[in-house]
Amino acid sequence: MRSDVTQILVINGPNLNALGLREPKLYGTETLADIEALCVEAGKSLGLEVECFQSNSEGALIDRIQAARDKASGIVINAGAYTHTSVALMDALLSVGLPTIEIHLTNVYQREEFRHTSFISKAALGGIVGLGSHGYVLGLQALNYHLSRSNQE
Ligand code: DQA
Repeated sequence: MRSDVTQILVINGPNLNALGLREPKLYGTETLADIEALCVEAGKSLGLEVECFQSNSEGALIDRIQAARDKASGIVINAGAYTHTSVALMDALLSVGLPTIEIHLTNVYQREEFRHTSFISKAALGGIVGLGSHGYVLGLQALNYHLSRSNQE
């Protein structure tokens, strides 16, 4: 990542590497590579440098969040099922203190009760659910808006 451009980290958690194959009726046919390319393009049009990271492992996700301290200006994260279970991921986000937008492809509030709880939301500025891959674009726009307002203060 270069340091003269605003850098944003887009993180995808477990099973999101299987997008395209995974329950396509629910998650659609776009692959993770499609979504990452969309994020990089959306970032470019906003003047942001987007780096994407995916892991199925909670520890690797935490390591990547910690490594973003002092490097990235914000985080867009779809933590997959760890959203609903991981105090450790929430703590990692709180500890780096970067503005964070939570994304879910599906409308988790229309699904099982256990998906209605999000530890990530306790560390996030806000979230976008149920809008598919467009949610990531909206998340980057929201982060850009937030960062430009904070820079004016
Ligand atoms: C998800 C929703 C989670 O409940 C689920 O475990 C996922 C994907 C979504 O993008 O809709 O893996 O985060």
